[in-house]
Amino acid sequence: MAVKSILVTGGLGFIGSHTCVTLAQAGFRLAIVDNLSNAKRSVLDRIRALAQGEIDFHEADIRDRPALDRAIGRAAVDAVIHFAGLKAVGESVEKPLLYYDNNVGGTVTLMQAMAAAGVRRMVFSSSATVYGEPIRLPITEDHPLRPQSPYGQTKLIVEQMLADEARADDRFRYAALRYFNPIGAHPSGGLGEDPNGIPNNLLPFVSQVATGLRPAVRVFGQDYDTHDGTGVRDYIHVMDLAAGHLAALRFLEAANASVTVNLGTGNGYSVLDVIRAYERASGRPIPVDMSPRRPGDVASCYAAPALAAERLGWRAQFGIDEMCRDAWAWARKNSGS
Ligand code: NAD
Ligand code: UFG
Repeated sequence: MAVKSILVTGGLGFIGSHTCVTLAQAGFRLAIVDNLSNAKRSVLDRIRALAQGEIDFHEADIRDRPALDRAIGRAAVDAVIHFAGLKAVGESVEKPLLYYDNNVGGTVTLMQAMAAAGVRRMVFSSSATVYGEPIRLPITEDHPLRPQSPYGQTKLIVEQMLADEARADDRFRYAALRYFNPIGAHPSGGLGEDPNGIPNNLLPFVSQVATGLRPAVRVFGQDYDTHDGTGVRDYIHVMDLAAGHLAALRFLEAANASVTVNLGTGNGYSVLDVIRAYERASGRPIPVDMSPRRPGDVASCYAAPALAAERLGWRAQFGIDEMCRDAWAWARKNSGS
């Protein structure tokens, strides 16, 4: 079936906004639903400035069924890309019910609205966090699934809901995309990651040190069993992730099947590797503050990316230097430094 019109939940967020640009440029009509809980309305103008095309916006919560029905009905939606969700691991430990309500309850409501409207294609933002502590590397999709936080549980439960729905309705198809560590920004500098408050994640923190907003990056742990003792992750350019969603949609148009795949590069970089790459990209020194390990962190986590290449024909194109270059262009423009 040909997909022309897409409902994008969470489309004003970090990954959603970049994906909307890629999809609009590929000719899809988009209707974004976002409750602005972790996004600014001005992102819509940024998306529209980068991509021509029809982009409708509904300020609404995915738990609001009538609002979803209106958005789906008005746009004659063929497929849904479901980014909307809360994503802070630590907060999910403190407020598990908030996470189950938003991420699981919200997805139940969304899938009910889809079923009522006969929409049977979904691309879902899953996470490498469903694997829990890696028992072998690189992580293949058949690695045991043992999420360590309520956030991770919500991702696994939604994956299971999708599989159950596909079993119950053989016309329903989905792509569950397990992202590794998305970073970077749109190469134009017109769109990027803009977290509220003190960033939890490494890259936005490094950017704020480079622009002078914070004095130093705290490096959490130097005694891991890695090449330089600091934690190793599979960082992936957000524009590569955006392309992965386009490939997943094409797969759902053509194949008579669903798919669950890693979206990663297969390369692991340490905290210090990333900081050095950012220094090269920005030409600025990034002071570090060697700090204790952060509870819950693992030494290394990186993907086996072969299944996504085989099933979706998708491979990451960008390396760590391009990720840091684009993150810096955005940070610099956004901070005026
Ligand atoms: P983000 O917070 O920037 O984007 C999520 C968007 O969803 C935000 O714009 C927010 O306002 C919206 N939203 C949240 N709850 C909503 C609700 N109930 N109704 C309507 N809108 C709602 O996060 P992101 O980094 O772009 O992540 C997108 C998705 O990818 C999330 O589901 C996240 O769990 C998943 N993911 C992210 C990462 C990462 O490191 N960024 C890694 C793996 C998976
Ligand atoms: N780190 C620092 N200093 C910081 C922030 C992070 O040294 O200020 C280190 C961490 O210890 C880790 C690495 O940088 O070694 C990456 O940390 P992030 O917080 O950027 O990312 P995580 O790998 O911990 O987590 C991310 C997402 C989670 C998701 C997980 C797996 O934030 O939501 O990837 O997909 F579950």
